[in-house]
Amino acid sequence: MSVHSSSSVKRVTTHILQEMKDSGEKISMLTAYDFSMAKIVDSAGIDIVLVGDSASNVMAGHETTLPITLDQMIYHASSVVRAVKRAFIVVDIPFGHYQGNSSEALRSAIRIMKESGAHAVKVEGGSEIKESVSRILSAGVPVMGHLGLTPQSIYKFGTYTVRAKEEAEAKKLLEDAQMLEQCGCFAIVLEKIPAALAQKVAESVKIPVIGIGAGPDVDGQVLVMHDMLGITQEFKPRFLRQYADLQSIMTDAFQNYIKDVKERKFPTKSESY
Ligand code: KIV
Repeated sequence: MSVHSSSSVKRVTTHILQEMKDSGEKISMLTAYDFSMAKIVDSAGIDIVLVGDSASNVMAGHETTLPITLDQMIYHASSVVRAVKRAFIVVDIPFGHYQGNSSEALRSAIRIMKESGAHAVKVEGGSEIKESVSRILSAGVPVMGHLGLTPQSIYKFGTYTVRAKEEAEAKKLLEDAQMLEQCGCFAIVLEKIPAALAQKVAESVKIPVIGIGAGPDVDGQVLVMHDMLGITQEFKPRFLRQYADLQSIMTDAFQNYIKDVKERKFPTKSESY
């Protein structure tokens, strides 16, 4: 049941997200990177729009999320901010802009907030980035954590397989989630970890836990928009539910257009001046 339906909420805030967790209403989150798509997903009633660094993959065609720059993330985020009227907007701080130095982390977060107009930032990692997380929070910028499979560390992991299956890694993940909550993060994303561990994390922290490949017993779900729309077809992990096959629909439209142009069927007289 929704106590925070799209018509009753003018703007989703961290406070409303916390109320959703407290009342048991699941939180919906999707990525968006540009004005047109962000406008559609916001009108559909999504709770959180994530300007993910997955833009590096689906928008720029890179193999990993590592190459995308802070300027590029700000460009994507400001396009999304111009479109979104209701959802809460979170922006990934890209690789290399918060890990090693908390002053740089703060500078990056402030640039994102000031130049894009977004509402919060997301960072990947636990105890290793505690100082950066605290510094950003001390400036009044809401922070979403991200644990489990953290794609910015892909070269450390070596593969995109399920994380935290072993006890030691699961224990660290739980401690990291509790640490992020104590620091003041408003929510945490858990990516590609066993469902039982995700449930344990969601039950042991008060803040919302949003899963991607983390099973049903968390406080909300997130997917990459291009994957769930079937625009990307190469990436089909078990956790991905494809809600449309836009690649086929778009290919049909493009082929029909090409045919019409070649056969002089477009434009007609009524489509001309
Ligand atoms: O960048 C992204 O799209 C993400 C989601 C997978 C959570 O971080």
